[in-house]
Amino acid sequence: MDPERPNNRKRIAVLASGRGSNFQAVIDAIASGEIPAVCVGLVTDNPGAYAIERAKAAGIPATVVEYARFPTKAAYEEALLEAMRGCRADLFVLAGYMRILGAGIVHEFSGRMMNIHPALLPAFAGLHAQRQAIEYGVKVAGCTVHLVDEGTDTGPIVVQRCVPVLPDDDESTLAERILAEEHQALPLAVKLFCEDRLEVAGRRVRIR
Ligand code: GRF
Repeated sequence: MDPERPNNRKRIAVLASGRGSNFQAVIDAIASGEIPAVCVGLVTDNPGAYAIERAKAAGIPATVVEYARFPTKAAYEEALLEAMRGCRADLFVLAGYMRILGAGIVHEFSGRMMNIHPALLPAFAGLHAQRQAIEYGVKVAGCTVHLVDEGTDTGPIVVQRCVPVLPDDDESTLAERILAEEHQALPLAVKLFCEDRLEVAGRRVRIR
């Protein structure tokens, strides 16, 4: 047996920049046995991220690679890459990681990095997705978990969940409704990966 993967469980690491409620949903799904994985680390660019408290509470090592401490984006990314390599993770989960990853990192972890985005991609990629949805006037919104490629929120889609947009919604009420679905979608996508049930063919992800 691989001593780093007791009972064949996958090693997952999480990148998060802030509140970390999606990170918490993954922690909880691992604790309940829903996801056959061990969470081996949190990596964050933000020393003030509440996600760090969540990692501490769950006994998960947290590594801070503070963006502001590096002279260039390239230097930051090099340090981030080192921290990621150090996790020896099978899967990296971007759970509210608010920076665009450089091509070097995307290539190195290609096919084993997923991101949660609060919109039904390919609509409303990028920042403020919920605000974009309100302003556009869509009647249905939601969230997407996708594999990470070089684009912004463009990788193959693993799981989507939708919610209605109600007449009186504003950005924050819609965000709250979407967030509840994110907390279902992300653990499910991580579980499917950890059970080796994702089959990627070009843009399409088949679930075995
Ligand atoms: C979520 O809406 C996620 O989709 C987006 O950033 C937010 C992070 O929330 N990428 P949290 O830190 O997981 O609570």
